[in-house]
Amino acid sequence: MSKELPVIKTPLPGPKSKKLINFDEQYVSPSYTRAYPTVIDHADGAWIWDVDGNQFLDFHSGIAVSVTGNCHPKVVDAIVDQARKAVHISSADFYHELVGKLARRLGSLAPGKEKKRVFFTNSGTESVEAGMKLARYKSRRPRYLAFIGAFHGRTMGSLSLTCSKKIQRERFAPLLPEVTHVPYAYCYRCPYNLTYPDCELECVKFIEDQIFSRVAPASDVAAIVVEPMQGEGGYIVPPPDYFKALSELAKKHGILLMIDEVQTGMGKTGKMFAIEHFGITPDILVTAKALGSGVPIGACIAPQKTMDWEPGAHSTTFGGTPMGCAAALATIDLLEDGLMDNADKQGKFMMKELTKMQKEHPSIGDVRGLGLMIGIEFVKDKKTKEPAPKVAQDVERGCFEKGLMILCCGPNGIRLVPPLVVDRDQCTVALEILDEVIGKVEKKYKI
Ligand SMILES: Cc1ncc(COP(=O)(O)O)c(C=O)c1O
Repeated sequence: MSKELPVIKTPLPGPKSKKLINFDEQYVSPSYTRAYPTVIDHADGAWIWDVDGNQFLDFHSGIAVSVTGNCHPKVVDAIVDQARKAVHISSADFYHELVGKLARRLGSLAPGKEKKRVFFTNSGTESVEAGMKLARYKSRRPRYLAFIGAFHGRTMGSLSLTCSKKIQRERFAPLLPEVTHVPYAYCYRCPYNLTYPDCELECVKFIEDQIFSRVAPASDVAAIVVEPMQGEGGYIVPPPDYFKALSELAKKHGILLMIDEVQTGMGKTGKMFAIEHFGITPDILVTAKALGSGVPIGACIAPQKTMDWEPGAHSTTFGGTPMGCAAALATIDLLEDGLMDNADKQGKFMMKELTKMQKEHPSIGDVRGLGLMIGIEFVKDKKTKEPAPKVAQDVERGCFEKGLMILCCGPNGIRLVPPLVVDRDQCTVALEILDEVIGKVEKKYKI
């Protein structure tokens, strides 16, 4: 049987999209960064249709959210069944069976044998805020350590940790003053000009030798907040022993290690949480995005001895809605029933093919990832590694015109993060489109 291909029937944007975009742009906040000029009508599995009938292959999952595929029938049934019973109860003030059920499930899925507790939220940034507050509450310390290139959200607390693009911070100061940013383990562009493993993890040593002794006394630091793989910052995967060293450093100084799995969590890397690839136990783990397959729900998870704050110390009206919990429980079932394994299988296939493609394309500087979270970094020259941001943008646009939806990440990269229902044929179609588009863009820029 031949592979199902994207169908582009109109110039993009099509006439109906054009009209709706004009309408939207009169009323919706201009701070949104819409990647594509098209208006989505409906979606199914790994396919998205716009209002003009164009059919796109979804390799962004609505920014790493739709892990179970768009509108998975089991998730839709769970939402509809729950909506018929109770849409809202306010889980912080009233009891609902699914809240405890989901908390127990998440607590046992998060790394570490200790019994855990969960604070529910509606989004990634709220999960990060909850973790930041919990760290201060528990440690009675004021400071945080975060990383250059990190993205943790856009509310004032999480924005103080975010250090990805200047537009995200410009004109919003003063932010939290007690945040110190240090270089991440970005081996392709090592900030210390060293090479792993000969570097002996200078990026961790630097924190101890320089930061703790000159900038931020360790005894003042409540938490080290870190993504297991930088997402928005460029899908950067640290070396295998990085988190073990970071965790030991945190333990030595009584600092809580807070792992932000908002983007990496819920099966996308082939494991429920990406930090499992590194074999360490976080003190606080926060997640959101894919947890409810698109229904807003997030979580801050910590051992019971850490999450021991008093009633009223932190709360929420909407966090952990019955529909969010129902969607999350259905999502976890599906991840455990094969989708996580598929992420591993298709991810390995994609990585193998992209590594081959890297050899043929002078603009592909680096290919990296875990499972079905894969980043490609574009350069003008493989030797000098001069970043090629325009290539990344043109590849994103070129793929769109061929019916493949992807998103940029970092200053000069793209990310491939499809729903975990993708099959080999859909991955092959995406690879063929990418190959063709990258070739064309290289010609345009004479790379
Ligand atoms: C790692 C990480 N943390 C936090 C956030 C913020 O999540 P939200 O946009 O749901 O507030 C994001 C969003 O992209 C993220 O990638």
